[in-house]
Amino acid sequence: MELYESLAAQAKSLLDGEDDIICAMANISALIFEKIPDLNWAGFYREKDGGLILGPFQGKVACTRIECGRGVCGTAMATDEPQLVPNVHEFAGHIACDSASNAEIVLPLHGADGRFLGVLDIDSPTVGRFGERDLDGFRKIAELFKIF
Ligand code: SME
Repeated sequence: MELYESLAAQAKSLLDGEDDIICAMANISALIFEKIPDLNWAGFYREKDGGLILGPFQGKVACTRIECGRGVCGTAMATDEPQLVPNVHEFAGHIACDSASNAEIVLPLHGADGRFLGVLDIDSPTVGRFGERDLDGFRKIAELFKIF
């Protein structure tokens, strides 16, 4: 089975019957970090008071609060569009949490009613690490959050 197909299948079974979003985010961040090669951070920021607050993740300690519109995560929130950033050092306003991060991919998450839940944020030390295949793969993971 292709890597992202197997990731989605495992993520789906981890979320099966789970109704707590923190529990779901904790296991999904661990799964992504373990299965996808060449990452230094994988996790979630949740919507809170019109901004983002750090959620479950794997990797080094990270910034706790991000304003809507700030950095890659805040841009994903403000535009409600995935952000595929080949080189974070060329992204105006990028928030450097872990100096090892060079590429980043961030996807907005929506609940059952279309409500904005937060973002899935994945970082790599390798410039250009993420492409359309990764975006499609992580989109399938983001879509699983429609149960919340
Ligand atoms: N670099 C992100 C901040 C979060 S960390 O990567 C974990 C950004 O610019 O939004």
